[in-house]
Amino acid sequence: MQVFKTIKSLREQVQAWKSQGLTVGFVPTMGNLHAGHLSLIHVAREQCDRVIASIFVNPLQFGPNEDFDSYPRTFDADQSKLKAQMVDGLFFPSVDEMYPSGEIQTTVHVPAELTGLLEGASRPGHFDGVTTVVNKLFNMVQPDVAVFGQKDFQQFAVISKMVTDLAMPVKLIRAPIGRDEDGLALSSRNQYLTQEQRAIAPKLYTTLLDIELAIKSGNRDFTALTMAASKQLLLHGFDFVDYIHVVNPITLMASKACDGSFVILAVAKLGNTRLLDNILLSKLD
Ligand code: PAF
Repeated sequence: MQVFKTIKSLREQVQAWKSQGLTVGFVPTMGNLHAGHLSLIHVAREQCDRVIASIFVNPLQFGPNEDFDSYPRTFDADQSKLKAQMVDGLFFPSVDEMYPSGEIQTTVHVPAELTGLLEGASRPGHFDGVTTVVNKLFNMVQPDVAVFGQKDFQQFAVISKMVTDLAMPVKLIRAPIGRDEDGLALSSRNQYLTQEQRAIAPKLYTTLLDIELAIKSGNRDFTALTMAASKQLLLHGFDFVDYIHVVNPITLMASKACDGSFVILAVAKLGNTRLLDNILLSKLD
């Protein structure tokens, strides 16, 4: 596996592959890799001849009081995991390589209809940071296919909107959520949980499963379902429920009873750790 620290060296290799007619799959990450990330690599590998992963903890997508400084940076372990997955190239740029002028001159902003609600409401500016860095990474890697995890459901919807609106020549794939045996969605932030919090954490998923079951059985009173679920989470020991909503998977607007597809999104806190999860229900009659 080659490690590229500069855009120039990365581009030279990608161009060499493309001139041989090889396709390139891309998995952008912020490192601290777990089985969820590795499943994204697997999807990219199935689709493409060569796979590039990137590790870049993007300062632009963290708010002033968020965990940018303490975000776990585990390069050596990450590198070994990627090597074991037969990744062809790892792009590991410095902050200066990504943002050489020290300040951002041009940012990418997807309209507030998609970015101002849910995660965007809790984390102002977060999605501008994500779309700007993903746009830059796409320009650097020039992938044929890019794979993102379903866990960050809104992130995928926002990036899809950017790719469509800006006619970017990349196919996006949304890969299923990786879970621990007890159902907890895999996340780098799970390691912040104490033993006691870790025991409570899977209840987020079981609560979503309860809503899924109710919807599948014909219940369309989304307000009542999500309010009851929210209460349930607090009873289970969660400290705060940021939101639980049933929304349209593309527009992220509140679902209507007559819709055929739904996504149930939830974010709840254990101590200072925010846990995200979701379940997608498509094409229900
Ligand atoms: O999902 C993530 O890890 C990040 O938001 C991403 C897509 C790598 C952009 O920094």
